[in-house]
Amino acid sequence: MLIAIFAENAFNGIKNKVTLCHFGRREIARAFRYRWFDGCHAVNVQKTEVLVMRYNHKCITILVPMNIKIADLEFEPLLNYEAIQTRVKQIAKHINKDYENKNPMLVGVLNGCFLFMGDMVKQVTIPCEIAFTKLSSYHGGLETTRRISDDLDLTRNIEGRHIILIEDIVDTGNTLDYLVAKLKKRKPASIVVCAMLVKPAAQEYEIKELKHIGFEIENEFVVGYGLDYMELGRNIKGVYKRVVS
Ligand code: IMP
Ligand code: MG
Repeated sequence: MLIAIFAENAFNGIKNKVTLCHFGRREIARAFRYRWFDGCHAVNVQKTEVLVMRYNHKCITILVPMNIKIADLEFEPLLNYEAIQTRVKQIAKHINKDYENKNPMLVGVLNGCFLFMGDMVKQVTIPCEIAFTKLSSYHGGLETTRRISDDLDLTRNIEGRHIILIEDIVDTGNTLDYLVAKLKKRKPASIVVCAMLVKPAAQEYEIKELKHIGFEIENEFVVGYGLDYMELGRNIKGVYKRVVS
């Protein structure tokens, strides 16, 4: 778990960032047991547990992202909003360069894409068009049903256009394999895929068009930042992974 440790000047309250390190709950518990810290209190601030401790006569604040519960499952933090935004900006930079004077069409794959797409287009500074299509295959559960339902077709004419598909996550690749093949028949000038997350270990279909990847993750179920479990959790700012006990 990634947490930030700040040393706080107890007198004027100014926080100086001291270090950013991997530090789990177990380590924190051990630190308490061996009295590395001589005083502590914890408060909750928007899904972040803030532990304030005294150590070597200094006040140390530790920010611990907390686990969350969605329906019957528990999830732990995987990617925070700031890390996602940094990556979004990097990808948008490539798009701005590659598609200058090409008026690309960014096509979001609903529902999962909506936050990623929203943040991405705000960083795309070249002229571009925005469109959406909607497909589903998970139908609320923890695994793909492999049954793709084509809920909303892309109604725009894409012949001769440069298409950038914006997808939330590539799991088996089944959905994108289907969508890319369908759109190719409409003779676009080019198609590339930009996916926020990819699970390489789960991928069964090779997607040659997959050009931009936000983050590669393990083969685990995730929610947040557009992704759902039982249609819940799409509004969560960061990405959380399922805790498997
Ligand atoms: P694929 O067809 O197996 O690649 O699955 C793609 C779709 O399944 C994605 O667009 C998501 O909507 C959904 N999906 C895949 N993995 C997850 C996950 O870990 N959490 C939530 N939805 C997921
Ligand atoms: Mg999707």
